[in-house]
Amino acid sequence: MSTLRKIVIVGATSAMAEHCARLWLQQGVEEMVLIGRDAQRVDRVVADLRVRAPQCLIQTIISDFLQPEAIARTVEQACTAVSPDIVLLAHGSLPEQAVCQQDLQHNRVALEVNAISPVLFAEAFASRLEQVGQGKLVLIGSVAGDRGRKSNYVYGAAKGLVTRYAQGLQHRFAGSRIQVVLVKPGPTDTPMTAHLKSSGTKLASVEQVASNIVSGVAGGKTVIYAPAKWQLIMLIIRHLPRVIFNKLDI
Ligand SMILES: NC(=O)c1ccc[n+]([C@@H]2O[C@H](COP(=O)([O-])OP(=O)(O)OC[C@H]3O[C@@H](n4cnc5c(N)ncnc54)[C@H](OP(=O)(O)O)[C@@H]3O)[C@@H](O)[C@H]2O)c1
Repeated sequence: MSTLRKIVIVGATSAMAEHCARLWLQQGVEEMVLIGRDAQRVDRVVADLRVRAPQCLIQTIISDFLQPEAIARTVEQACTAVSPDIVLLAHGSLPEQAVCQQDLQHNRVALEVNAISPVLFAEAFASRLEQVGQGKLVLIGSVAGDRGRKSNYVYGAAKGLVTRYAQGLQHRFAGSRIQVVLVKPGPTDTPMTAHLKSSGTKLASVEQVASNIVSGVAGGKTVIYAPAKWQLIMLIIRHLPRVIFNKLDI
């Protein structure tokens, strides 16, 4: 496939990212650069992907995800290795809201991992895509970013920042061959939500969400709710009058 040859994934050990990588490999991607913070975990993902697609050249970069200088260096290294058709920014963590309320350092780290780090990666990749004049930059936000709720507003606020940042980048690159795509998954069965699964929360399968992401990106969508039903659910949640919203235990 001529338009989909080279892919860079930040947060490559994420279950969602790994499943997207598998689908892209099935579509014949030729080169990948996988970026993570832990060499052993990245190597495990690479070993699996190499078995699935021995023809693909896979390179890895281990990076610090919180230091701006390290992010800038990593992006330069990745874009020197390949000129990406798609960049996927997938890293994130689900902090405990109650702990964030009590411990400001925990709160700060949650905001840094889920908001500051992804947007610094996005900004650095945006410059590189601008230099070559094409490419898709895919950021994983969350339905949690659509409206602040008492059960997870630290994570939600971080994802809300990613949402606004993606909107700004979309505006900046409107009319160009650079596309910025914002993915908003609903609760999905990955290691991040293992504790929710055991408490009975209904979770989408990671295979379905990855498939929604890969097909949405290929189809030129700018915002991808995954699974799609979350678009309607969040439309309703966003528009609920405050007097009703405040009575909900969500
Ligand atoms: N699962 C859901 O229900 C859900 C819903 C909405 C949005 N999302 C978003 O989807 C994306 C992918 O998450 P996932 O569900 O695939 O979760 P996952 O499998 O738990 O993956 C999380 C990823 O984030 C990385 N990460 C976590 N903390 C980090 C830190 N402090 N610094 C650098 N990297 C860190 C992990 O790296 P290590 O392997 O090194 O730990 C891993 O690559 C995230 O942005 C998440 O917020 C998930």
